Amino acid sequence: MSGTLGDSILVTGALGQIGMDLVEALRDKHGKDSVIASDVREISGHPFVEEGRFVRLSVLDGDAMDFVVKDEGIGTVYHLAAILSATGEQNPELCERVNVGGTITVLETARRHGLRVYAPSSIAVFGPDAPTTAPQVTPLNPTTTYGKTKVTGEVMAMNYWKQYGVDKRGIRYPGLVSWKSPAGGGTTDYAVEIFHAALNEGHYDCFVGPETRLPMMYMDDAIRATLELMDAPVDSIGDARGGYNVSGISFTAGELADAISERVDGFTCEFKPDHRQEYADSWPDSVDDSVAKEDWGWHAEYNLDRMVDEMLNRLSD
Ligand code: NAD
Ligand code: SER
Repeated sequence: MSGTLGDSILVTGALGQIGMDLVEALRDKHGKDSVIASDVREISGHPFVEEGRFVRLSVLDGDAMDFVVKDEGIGTVYHLAAILSATGEQNPELCERVNVGGTITVLETARRHGLRVYAPSSIAVFGPDAPTTAPQVTPLNPTTTYGKTKVTGEVMAMNYWKQYGVDKRGIRYPGLVSWKSPAGGGTTDYAVEIFHAALNEGHYDCFVGPETRLPMMYMDDAIRATLELMDAPVDSIGDARGGYNVSGISFTAGELADAISERVDGFTCEFKPDHRQEYADSWPDSVDDSVAKEDWGWHAEYNLDRMVDEMLNRLSD
């Protein structure tokens, strides 16, 4: 690796569900001018775009990324740009091109310029053969294209670390629940949509069945996990560097609907499973995060009740 260029941070895919929260958290921590938000699209009027420190950048364009990294003195990339599971199964070629191709662009840029990289993995790395509570180490046989791209990302993290010393870290995020931005084409989107529907329409048609149980996490926990992992000393990061299991909350779609009904008068939920049920059924119910606890001290703070209260309060403000 060549020497690190600077202390600034580049966030790819910054206008997505996680980027909306992560850019703010990074700006609070490192200063507003140090964090460059980027995305392949623009949302006109959005503060990230209007207030500057935003560049339009496709992660498939290595020359453009190289230019931004040198021009802005980037030292760390938070690589969030991706195509999620539900959209990815509709367009597997695009999913592979963006998720694998984009990660290669970022890693090659990191190798040339000595950058640190954060790039998320997902519970989608697990397939139907994984135990109900998925351990950190188990055969990874995902059935979705999206899951396969995430396994490739984890393998590349280890290869670039061993071969070139590129310090790339990642977390196998569970389904993330947040209020600042809509979810972006994933299978776990129902756990976000249901809150908006409850408050706006009093009713939600849920695209997975009531017994569907998945690992989930409130966004504040996910952002804290991300910052803590990136703050951890390099010698505390072990073989899980490409994708640490982190456990948050495990609930069924029915339990989530019940928790909202207890708080929103008259709310009703009908369960009408569609093609996304199959993707959800291929993932575990929960994950074992003992390795993340051991390596960098991870612990979750939000349970179901606290998350539901927070979501309803924030969306009602
Ligand atoms: P999202 O779909 O909300 O946002 C992704 C962003 O990437 C979008 O703004 C999109 O415009 C951008 N993008 C797409 N193609 C691009 C390209 N070629 N160049 C630059 N930008 C491009 O996704 P998210 O929920 O914010 O997820 C971010 C990361 O976290 C992804 O790697 C995803 O796999 C992972 N993850 C998310 C969840 C979750 O529940 N949100 C769970 C597990 C893992
Ligand atoms: N929440 C993501 C999805 O459903 C999991 O990575 O695609």
